[in-house]
Amino acid sequence: MLLTLAPMESLTGIVFRRRHHEFFGGVDRYYTPFVTPTVEPEFTERQMRELSPEANRGMNVVPQLMAKDADRFLWAAKRLAELGYSEVNLNLGCPMGTVTGKGKGCGFLRHPDELREFFESVFAEPLPIAVSVKTRLGWNTEEEFDDLIRVYADFPISELVIHARVRNDFYKGDPRTECFLRALPKLPMPVGFNGDIHLVSQISEWEKTHPELQSLMIGRASVANPAIFREARGGAPASGEELAAFHDALMADYAAAFGSIGNTVGHMKQYWFYMKNMFEGGEKLFKQLLKTKNVSDYESLVQEIATTLPIRTEPAYGWWKPV
Ligand SMILES: Cc1cc2nc3c(=O)[nH]c(=O)nc-3n(C[C@H](O)[C@H](O)[C@H](O)COP(=O)(O)O)c2cc1C
Repeated sequence: MLLTLAPMESLTGIVFRRRHHEFFGGVDRYYTPFVTPTVEPEFTERQMRELSPEANRGMNVVPQLMAKDADRFLWAAKRLAELGYSEVNLNLGCPMGTVTGKGKGCGFLRHPDELREFFESVFAEPLPIAVSVKTRLGWNTEEEFDDLIRVYADFPISELVIHARVRNDFYKGDPRTECFLRALPKLPMPVGFNGDIHLVSQISEWEKTHPELQSLMIGRASVANPAIFREARGGAPASGEELAAFHDALMADYAAAFGSIGNTVGHMKQYWFYMKNMFEGGEKLFKQLLKTKNVSDYESLVQEIATTLPIRTEPAYGWWKPV
C-alpha cells in the first residue's frame, strides 16, 4: 500500500517537501498543495517554483489542481505532462468558503450534474497524463456520496483519494470511516483513504484489514511527526536532534524565500501548531512561542523546547485543540 503525503496549502509546499525527503523520506508520493490554473494558459512564475521538475527532482510528486472549468484544467494537465508528470490530482475537497463560494473544491460536490459534465469534457479525448481525484464524502451529509459515486464510477479516474468527512465537518470530529468502508466495494477505481491517521499502528491496521486499498494519505501527522513514513517502513523514530535540525533547515529556507525573518517566524508557527504534539509537556513554552513576534525570543524559545522537553515516540493527538 502506498503511503502518501497530503497536499496542505502553506505547509507541504516545495520547501517542506524537499527538506522532508532529505531528512526523513519513506514517502511513496508527495502531493503539491493546490495550484489554480488561470485564464492565461501558462503557469505563473510563482506556480512554477512549486511545479518545476528541477525543484522536485528525486521525489515522486503529483501536482494538484483546483479548477471547475474543464478548459483550464485541461491546459494545465497537458502542460504538467510536458513537464514530465505522469499524474495530476483534482481537488474536490477544499472546504474554505473562498474556494467553495466559486463552486470549486468541495463546492463542486454540491452539483453532481455539473461535475459529470466537467468529467465528460476532461475525458472527452485521451489525455497524456493520469487524472486522480481527492474528494470528501459530500457537502452536508454522507448520504450524498451515493450520487457522487455514480459520477466517479463512470470515468477513468486513476485513483480516488477520499478524505472521509463532509464539508461541514471541515477538519474536525472523527472521520466517517464506516461510510468510507461501505462505499469501497462500489468504487471501480483504485482508492486511497485519508483522515486523521497519526500512528504507525493505524497504518499497519489499515494494511492488514484493507489490503485492497491503493494508498493511505497522511497530512497533519506528517507535520507533527515527519518520521511517521520512515517508521511505518521499519525505520527509526525521529530523534530530538533530527527534529531540531529539520526545523532549522525549514526556517533557513523560508527566510531565504521570503527575504524576511519576521515573516518566517509567523510561518514557522503554523508548523509548531502540529509539531508541539511531539513534545512532552511544555504548555507554557508553546503558548509563548505561538504568541511571540520577536525573532530572538522565538529562537530562544525553540532552543529551550529542543533542549528541555522530552520527545514522544508518537504525537499526542487532537490537532484542533489550542495550546
Ligand atoms: C492547513 C491545511 C491545508 C490544506 N491544504 C490542502 C490542499 O491544498 N489540497 C487538498 O486537497 N487538501 C488540503 N488540505 C486537506 C489535507 O490534504 C487532508 O485531507 C486533511 O488534513 C485530512 O488529513 P489528515 O487528518 O491526515 O491531516 C489541507 C489541510 C490543512 C489542515
